[in-house]
Amino acid sequence: MDQEQSSMSNEYGINSLTVWLTGATSGIGLAVLAELVKQGHRVIATGRSRQKLDEIAAEYGPSVIPLPGDVTSIDDCRYFSEQLSSMAPIDWAILNAGTCEYMDLPDFDAELVSRVVNTNVVGTARAIGAVLPVLRTSPRHERKPLLAVVGSSAWWFPFTRAEAYGASKAGLAYLTESLRADLTSEGIDVSLVSPGFVRTPLTDQNDFSMPFLMEAEDAARIMVRDLTRHKPDIHFPKRFTLMLKLMTCLPRSMRDRMAASMARNAQETS
Ligand SMILES: NC(=O)c1ccc[n+]([C@@H]2O[C@H](COP(=O)([O-])OP(=O)(O)OC[C@H]3O[C@@H](n4cnc5c(N)ncnc54)[C@H](OP(=O)(O)O)[C@@H]3O)[C@@H](O)[C@H]2O)c1
Repeated sequence: MDQEQSSMSNEYGINSLTVWLTGATSGIGLAVLAELVKQGHRVIATGRSRQKLDEIAAEYGPSVIPLPGDVTSIDDCRYFSEQLSSMAPIDWAILNAGTCEYMDLPDFDAELVSRVVNTNVVGTARAIGAVLPVLRTSPRHERKPLLAVVGSSAWWFPFTRAEAYGASKAGLAYLTESLRADLTSEGIDVSLVSPGFVRTPLTDQNDFSMPFLMEAEDAARIMVRDLTRHKPDIHFPKRFTLMLKLMTCLPRSMRDRMAASMARNAQETS
């Protein structure tokens, strides 16, 4: 690395990247935006609220370029695609926009499932459709382009009330990992990020205890560090996610009993 390059590189030893980040106006996305800017990167920031994006751009300066829109909208995604092409090369896309709604049985709410799947799966798929052609044109000589999708570790266990959210994130994980297989030959890396509980406006609405809850800034630091290494499977906090992984190894009957007892406890305390 020559002297000029080394003076431009950040604590991870890489030069400035251009990153498209969805869900940049709040919670994990906003903390990731702050961490990316701190590491010297340029962030094209997407969310539905133009006002919030303008405020964030005013706070963080020229490193943040607002690109407002709704990832579930075909028209907005067409607009994203045009704008991203005009700002190419794009080094990373971090598709983080998402939502969560819990199901309260006995009222099984299919519309709730539709809303959550629409944002988390269809919205992410539309965003992938918008950015993939641009990532394909990114130069490969220094580093590969990176597509990162923010899923969740929640679907690794059948948690009470999480039918819709878990289904959406399970689908998203499959979509992401299958895409990784197909994009390997094109030289595009794909990372799946599976957080545990992180304190954000989304989880502030939860009325249950959240084990190993972590701060968004800590989550963002881990994400940016591991994305810089192009890790395919990023999950945190490890104490929580490794426990969940272990639980997936339990016999089916034991897992079902644990899940049903959690559901009973939740119903009794509500
Ligand atoms: N917090 C956790 O414990 C946790 C755990 C596991 C996974 N996750 C995942 O992490 C991601 C971020 O969650 P968070 O907790 O940071 O939530 P949050 O604070 O509610 O932030 C959600 C972000 O997504 C954006 N968004 C939502 N729907 C959108 C749409 N249709 N089009 C464009 N942007 C949209 C929101 O911006 P606008 O409202 O401005 O559009 C906001 O910036 C989600 O995918 C979530 O499932 C979170």
